[in-house]
Amino acid sequence: MEAVLRNLSSSVELLAVAALSGEVQQWDEQTVSRAFHWARYCEHIFSRFHNNPAISRILEKQLQITNNSVRAVFPGYREVCFSDLSRCQHVLLVGLLNNPEVPISIMKMLFDTTSPVNIKQGEYEDVTGLCSHIIQYKSACKVLTPFTDSSAAGADAEAEVQAGMLMERLDALLSQASKACQAERFLDSVLQGCEGASEHFCRVIAAALLTRTNSAAQTASVDFLLDWLQQKHTLLQHMCSALSSALLIDLAKECLKFRHAYCDVLKKWASDMEYSINDDEWVKTSPNPTVSFQKLTEHFVGLFEACPSLRNDVEKELNDLKISDGDFDVRGLSVWGDLLSEINKRLSIRIT
Ligand SMILES: *[C@@H]1O[C@H](CO)[C@@H](O)[C@H](O)[C@H]1NC(C)=O
Ligand SMILES: *[C@@H]1O[C@H](CO)[C@@H](O)[C@H](O)[C@H]1NC(C)=O
Repeated sequence: MEAVLRNLSSSVELLAVAALSGEVQQWDEQTVSRAFHWARYCEHIFSRFHNNPAISRILEKQLQITNNSVRAVFPGYREVCFSDLSRCQHVLLVGLLNNPEVPISIMKMLFDTTSPVNIKQGEYEDVTGLCSHIIQYKSACKVLTPFTDSSAAGADAEAEVQAGMLMERLDALLSQASKACQAERFLDSVLQGCEGASEHFCRVIAAALLTRTNSAAQTASVDFLLDWLQQKHTLLQHMCSALSSALLIDLAKECLKFRHAYCDVLKKWASDMEYSINDDEWVKTSPNPTVSFQKLTEHFVGLFEACPSLRNDVEKELNDLKISDGDFDVRGLSVWGDLLSEINKRLSIRIT
């Protein structure tokens, strides 16, 4: 029993270090795997003894003693009670996600989607991709409980769960001024990891931006994410072409910064268009992403309808561009002129 109590105390101390200490900067994959090994040890202790009141009491007592000693070192420590032992891996994972000192290599490993989890490698089970697996479970739970969460639209539940984790991590990093650059590297590495699944990543970002709470930290994270996104021209363009119109409109309504970025993308697409005499139509010269003149018009119309305050300014801008093209009212000479007349035609049809 002595040994169990000692091991239990050490494991709980380890959880506190994972969540609150700067020591995690030195952690590598092996250390993390070992930490999860001890978290599983606690879960095992719980399942073995929770039906035995005498031993449970002894374990609880030990947890209290540990609580006091850990509190002395980490004032912000939230105690681990006996029932927490049943979900120690979860406690450990949440602790790591919220600890801004955790190195990016560890985050990458936990979110790895390429390798299967729980392959025994050396002394401890490999925890690579653990987060990805938890995301899958959590998404499955969300899909399976549609009545408790009306916003979970089946296919996007996974994106929502990932968005939640992404924002939590950003909150944690941004809560320390010195970590802003790490926050940027974190987003870059997530983007890198999502190559090949960028459409999904677009939905994660959209879900993250639409996460609205009143906490100041959350707003700071949304702002940070938007600023970052504005530097990623390819991703931003991909978002504007891959996401549904309804989602883009929601984003434009919710976030001023996104609205302007979206509008800039549309103008960029228009400037990339050339008039094709053969097709008697404006076509985009660069193939990525392919957007038709028709679709481009629909984007503008949707945006103007959702954000009328934007309409005047942008129309004036388009008109100035038309003037700089010679201000002819002849189809096929200026993309701006043709765009304006098409937009106005659609909008006036909808009004009458
Ligand atoms: C406690 O941990 C040690 C390793 O540090 C292990 O060898 C031992 O078996 C554990 N004892 C119990 C009772 O779980
Ligand atoms: C843990 O320690 C703190 C302060 O020492 C105390 O307020 C709290 O009640 C303790 N929790 C448990 C479960 O013993």
